[in-house]
Amino acid sequence: MERTMTSSELMQIEDKYGAHNYHPLPVVLSKGEGVYVWDVEGKKYFDFLSAYSAVNQGHCHPRIVKALKDQAEVLTLTSRAFYNDQLGPYEKYLAEYFDYDKVLPINSGVEAVETALKLCRKWAYEKKGIELNRAKIIFASGNFHGRTLAVISASTDPSSTGGFGPYMPGYEVIPYNDLEALKTALKDELVAGFIVEPIQGEAGVFVPDEGYLKGAADLCKEHNVLFIADEVQTGIARTGRLLATCGNCSCEKSCGHQPEVKPDILVLGKAISGGVFPVSAVLANDDIMLCIKPGEHGSTFGGNPLACAVAIAALEVIEDEGLAENAMSLGKIFRERMQNLADKSDWVNLVRGKGLLNAIVINDTEDSSTAWDMCVALRDNGLLAKPTHGNIIRFAPPLVITEEELHQCCDIIEKTILAFKK
Ligand SMILES: Cc1ncc(COP(=O)(O)O)c(C=O)c1O
Repeated sequence: MERTMTSSELMQIEDKYGAHNYHPLPVVLSKGEGVYVWDVEGKKYFDFLSAYSAVNQGHCHPRIVKALKDQAEVLTLTSRAFYNDQLGPYEKYLAEYFDYDKVLPINSGVEAVETALKLCRKWAYEKKGIELNRAKIIFASGNFHGRTLAVISASTDPSSTGGFGPYMPGYEVIPYNDLEALKTALKDELVAGFIVEPIQGEAGVFVPDEGYLKGAADLCKEHNVLFIADEVQTGIARTGRLLATCGNCSCEKSCGHQPEVKPDILVLGKAISGGVFPVSAVLANDDIMLCIKPGEHGSTFGGNPLACAVAIAALEVIEDEGLAENAMSLGKIFRERMQNLADKSDWVNLVRGKGLLNAIVINDTEDSSTAWDMCVALRDNGLLAKPTHGNIIRFAPPLVITEEELHQCCDIIEKTILAFKK
C-alpha cells in the first residue's frame, strides 16, 4: 500500500478501526535504524523506550534482519508436529548461552510466564509431592507479567484486573523487596514457586535492595520452592549484565551486581529477538523441565525456524557488540546526568535504575498528567519516552547508543524539563 496519509489521518484511522486498548503518545512512526526512529512526516527522534526493552540491539539491526530474510526464504513454520533443522541448534545455543539443561520455546512474554507457572505446578505435583490442585505460587505486589487471565489474576494494578474476574486461584501476593514477607509466606507447605521481576519495570523501574534477589533465591532453596525470574524486560543486557539475576553467564567478568543468583526457572522474551518479532523462552534444568511431557503444553508458532534464526543472531549481537558492558557504563553516566538535573529542577524527585533501564520520578501525584505532558514536550524536542503512571517516566534507549548520543539525549531531557510549565 502506498503511504500517502499524514500522521493525523493515520491516528484517526487507528482510532476508528482499532480496539481502544492502548493510549499511544501522538507520534506515528514509519522507519527505525539503531537508536533513531522517524515519523511519517520525516521527523527524526531518539527512541528512549525501545519497544519496552525489546529493541535492545537497535532498530532493524542489519545482522538480525539478514537472518530473518535468509531464513524467511527457506522455511518459516513447520509446527512442532515435525522436527526442523533450526530448532535443535537454537535450543543448544540458548541452553549453553544461559547455562541451563533445556529450553521451552514460545512466542510472547506472557506465554513464557504462563509456561513457567504451568511448569512450576507440574513440578510441585510430580517432584515436590504437593497434593494435586493445591499448589500455590507467590507473586510480588506491583508485578507486571503480562495480560492473560492467569497472569493478571496476580496483578495488584486495578487497570489490569478491573472487570476481568473471576480470577485464577492458587496465588498469594506479598510485598516486593520484602524478605520477611517471603519468609512468612514460605512457611506454607503448599507453596511451589515464587515468581519475581529482578527490577519491576512496568511498576516504574523499582530496583530492589542489594541482596534481595539472592536472599529470596536462598529462602526458596531452603523451602524447596522454585525461584522463578521473569527477565522478559530486564534480561538480554538491559540492566548492564546479560541478566539482571546473572548467574554463571558469559558476561560474569564484566559486571558486578548480585552474581550468584541462578533462577530455577528463567523467563525471557522481548529482546531475545531484537524486537524483530515475538520470540520468548523458558529455561530450566532437566529435573524441572522434564515434568512437562509431550502433548501437555505448546504453541503452533513456538520454536518456529524463523524465530530460531532470528534469536541466535540477536544474541550474537548482544555478545559481539558488548551491549551489556555499554549498558552498564552508559547507565552510570545517564543517572549522574539525571541526578544533576534533579538537583536543579523542582520537577524531578528521584532517579533510579540499573544499566540502561532507568526512570525519573516527577514531583506530582500518580494520577496527574504531568509525566504524559512532559513526554509530549520531549517528543517535540526529538526524544520519545513513555510515562508509566502519571508521575514516572521510563528511559530505556537501545543499548547500541553511543556516549555522545547519550549526552545529546540528556541535553534534550534537561532542556525540556527545565523549561516545562504546567
Ligand atoms: C516483566 C514482564 N513480563 C512479561 C511481560 C509480557 O510480555 P509480552 O507483552 O510480550 O506478553 C512484560 C511486558 O512488558 C514484562 O515487562
